[in-house]
Amino acid sequence: MNPLHPKSLPHLFLRAAAGEATERAPVWLMRQAGRILPQYRALRSRFPDFKAFVKTPEAAAEATIQPVDELGVDAAIIFSDILVVPEAMGLDYEMVEAKGPRFPKIIETRHDIATLSSGAAAAERLDYVYEALKITKRELNGRVPLIGFAGAPWTILAYMTEGGGSKTFSKARRMLYTEPELAHSLLQKITDTTIYYLKNQVAAGADLLQLFDSWAGELPPAHYRAFAVPYLRQICEALPEVPKTVFAKGAWFALEDLADLPCQVIGLDWNTTPEFAQIATRGSKVLQGNLDPCALYAGTKTIEKETIAMLRAFGGRHIANLGHGVYPDTPLDGVRAFVETVKSAAWRTA
Ligand code: CP3
Repeated sequence: MNPLHPKSLPHLFLRAAAGEATERAPVWLMRQAGRILPQYRALRSRFPDFKAFVKTPEAAAEATIQPVDELGVDAAIIFSDILVVPEAMGLDYEMVEAKGPRFPKIIETRHDIATLSSGAAAAERLDYVYEALKITKRELNGRVPLIGFAGAPWTILAYMTEGGGSKTFSKARRMLYTEPELAHSLLQKITDTTIYYLKNQVAAGADLLQLFDSWAGELPPAHYRAFAVPYLRQICEALPEVPKTVFAKGAWFALEDLADLPCQVIGLDWNTTPEFAQIATRGSKVLQGNLDPCALYAGTKTIEKETIAMLRAFGGRHIANLGHGVYPDTPLDGVRAFVETVKSAAWRTA
């Protein structure tokens, strides 16, 4: 049975991802698990730090299901982080409270790359993610599909070479000019690990996979084509069994290339208009996005207006979402207004 065939996909979200015309757009929010719900904060306070939380499968499953129960979204995304992959490869990180991730050691030399583990051996260390997926899948009991995810190789390289977030990403970008072969060897190791990691996620129950290329927009188009797209392609090609979403934030310039990837869905940030994306992707992909997360700070009327305008602009073959992850201090009422507006707007009225 072809898993991408609409008849074998009973859920609205998966039918939409497969390109079927659906009665309305499915809706979920990037970073919906964690951050916004009081129930999440209560659960989080039981752990000394973020990593201890992520590594406790029962708790991760609970955080994954909370937004399904509380917000009525059409998909769950497994509670984890993109940085578990560099950690599994041997590069430890800390999640600094209110600041974000920090890698005490960074990747600079050929020797640093040689000491990293990769492929099946590295992916084996992510057992706690697979366990969380299995528990979640069991507890969701078919209510909504479960999204697995990983960081895209370029974004993971950026964290491994910068040691954290950065205003300029100049260490990561510099490497692409000064030591392109080194960059390619690191990207390949990340890719090999990510493929095994995502295969294991599918075996544990992930119904769709999303690749987060959060720092895509930092690269010049030629570098995105040379150092990002070929690795996204390897990953998409290695996972034919489930639909895939590529979210390359800021990479409006790469949409034509992304349209050639064997993925079904392209995620859009709020800098890209649906019209532009439809032309650039030649109508070949389902589009996901792309309301500005800041719209959710406005009153209900404004959120309804903005959300309806977004639905109209996409017109169909669309999965409603924000243009990036929901911000931690977003009012819950704003999130609810967004979800409810999408759920009550049938295509013909939208
Ligand atoms: O969508 C979901 O809610 C699922 C879980 C998820 C997390 N991180 C949990 C998390 C997902 C999909 C991610 C992806 C992620 N992580 C990305 C790609 C998406 C994006 O935002 O561009 C990136 C770049 C990261 C790296 C990361 N993790 C940063 C920069 C930070 C610190 C600041 C922040 O964003 O909150 C994290 C921490 C993190 N990851 C938290 C959560 C719930 C907050 C930690 C806490 O509760 O203390």
